[in-house]
Amino acid sequence: MPGRSAGTAEWDARLSVPGSPVCAPDWLALREAADASARSPELVEEARAHLAAAARPGVPTLIRDLGCGSGSMGRWLAGRLPGPQRWILCDRDPVLLARAGAGMPSLAADGAPVTARTWQDDLTSLRAEELAGTSLVTASAVLDLLTFEEVDGLAAACVQAGCAALLTLTVIGRVEIDPHEPLDVEFAAAFDAHQRRCTGGRRLLGPDAGPAAVEAFTRRGAAVRTRPSPWRLGADQAELAQEWLRGWIGAACVQRPDLEQHAAAYLGRRLDACSAGELQVALGHVDVLALPAGAS
Ligand SMILES: C[S@@+](CC[C@H](N)C(=O)[O-])C[C@H]1O[C@@H](n2cnc3c(N)ncnc32)[C@H](O)[C@@H]1O
Repeated sequence: MPGRSAGTAEWDARLSVPGSPVCAPDWLALREAADASARSPELVEEARAHLAAAARPGVPTLIRDLGCGSGSMGRWLAGRLPGPQRWILCDRDPVLLARAGAGMPSLAADGAPVTARTWQDDLTSLRAEELAGTSLVTASAVLDLLTFEEVDGLAAACVQAGCAALLTLTVIGRVEIDPHEPLDVEFAAAFDAHQRRCTGGRRLLGPDAGPAAVEAFTRRGAAVRTRPSPWRLGADQAELAQEWLRGWIGAACVQRPDLEQHAAAYLGRRLDACSAGELQVALGHVDVLALPAGAS
């Protein structure tokens, strides 16, 4: 995660706005393969069955990817779903949107056409009326950046519009590093607290976002399924693991400046182990599929 050399306050501010390090193009590109391996294939199968049952002959399935970033979700999912698809790629960041639009696949699983257009907007202002005709809303690695009210509003809009939602790769606050060090627990707790920080008057959900989404959709009558979707980073993902470690430790120190005294040596040991192929990181995520009432 780039940006760790900035001062603490500056770095914290930059995490919360468009262009933030957690949304930087290089970071999203680095994590794309790990994301693809981690997302739940079972939930895609269920989404696929739902979309097939709801499809109308000759009418492309309309899918909106919220917080699409540089388009990782569309690149992963479009070719796993059959039939003609029309994607609307939504993000507030125009630089990422341009990449997303340029990188979409043109063919579905069965060779049917896939088209895409971009839509620059703030997903938190989405209303049910804007989802008219949408069969599936997707969002990947986005929910944990939102507040309770924003996740609740998203669930309300989807349920009211009668569309399914596939919400992948939401962090759950579970990190296991092998070999273990006692400091892992301290950094993990500080990182989780940082994810739940209050910024610009917004209290972010961080690892509480998955349960909040499940509750918000269930309360409104949707049929909700969840599956774990952890990253498992070993020697074959050393570059990603190293960049993740830098960002993870950096954010923990923003939250708890007293950890800074340990950070350089701790990071150095972890990076050395990573370079030697001796470090394994399991980083917990959850995928959520919410289907309209009566559809499952
Ligand atoms: C961590 S990135 C994930 C990007 C992409 N979904 C992926 O999996 O690679 C989060 C994305 O959500 C977008 N985002 C965050 N808050 C948003 C908001 N309120 N409205 C629109 N986009 C938002 C960011 O610009 C960024 O592209």
